[in-house]
Amino acid sequence: MEKPVLLVTRRLPAAVEARAARDFTARLNLEDRPLTAAELLQQAAGATAILAAPTDRLDGPTLAALPESVRVIATFSVGFEHIDCDAAKARGIAVCNTPDVLSVATAELAILLILAAARRAGEGERLVRSGWWRGWTPTQLLGTGVSGRRLGIFGMGRIGREVARMARGFAMEIHYHDIARLSPEQEAGATFHAAAASFLAASEILSLHAPGGAATRHWLNAARIAMLPRGAVVANAARGTLVDDTALIAALRSGHVAAAGLDVYDGEPAVNPGYLALENVVLLPHLGSATVATRDAMGFLALDGIAAALNGKSPANRVV
Ligand code: DGY
Repeated sequence: MEKPVLLVTRRLPAAVEARAARDFTARLNLEDRPLTAAELLQQAAGATAILAAPTDRLDGPTLAALPESVRVIATFSVGFEHIDCDAAKARGIAVCNTPDVLSVATAELAILLILAAARRAGEGERLVRSGWWRGWTPTQLLGTGVSGRRLGIFGMGRIGREVARMARGFAMEIHYHDIARLSPEQEAGATFHAAAASFLAASEILSLHAPGGAATRHWLNAARIAMLPRGAVVANAARGTLVDDTALIAALRSGHVAAAGLDVYDGEPAVNPGYLALENVVLLPHLGSATVATRDAMGFLALDGIAAALNGKSPANRVV
């Protein structure tokens, strides 16, 4: 029997590409160059499925122009705001993502950002590498500790809850803001804030874990930043679009926000040059889910979703 054609838009871990090649006639992107919409459409000719990535823009016009043969798109990410789900639905194309398997890795990265920003790890690393470090001093690079402090989690989904679980190991007091309150079991003692104002006022450390997209665009704006306690620390391992960069940069300059740790950027890979000029920001290149085991698991889950959808089943990781 002929294997279905699968377009894989980015280079994936070797084990994932091997499985893709075993189960499909796989069109791999061995150069790992992000495809333009025109290239993606061209390479999708005759494909039954697409294993896409957050770097692909699968907007309405692109989805409308996909060949009739395409029946399912799986994105190698939990976030799927880069896919116009209404347009996919209109075309009868199933969409899958990769939830759960990346929650721990992404939460670890958020904790890393919080610690690195609060304890000034970026500045310390740059000092040592510069060759200008002259040894220990009682007043060098003093930061703020995180233990016992109030952590505000915006978006208490799977990743947010994992961050809360880890932060409890630092005896942090967990506060969260989301559309709806969690069950007492999922809340695990965290304090729910229906209103952003009380949530932000409580957030000595603020970690963003809401999805991207129009509804959360620039959620952390100047007005909301002003509600944070002076000297707050901000971490973002979710989506760059959640933050109004101009407002955060102004707050980092004024000291209202003491430090920030960012893994994602509005318009990435472009990074607002305002951040690059600041010492009190730790900048990482979207490493949230970047562990070997996690990226393998993401790829396998995406392939499972594609196989299930093609076999007429409704995969658990189907979002449309
Ligand atoms: C996701 O899964 O949405 C991440 O941002 C990619 O690691």
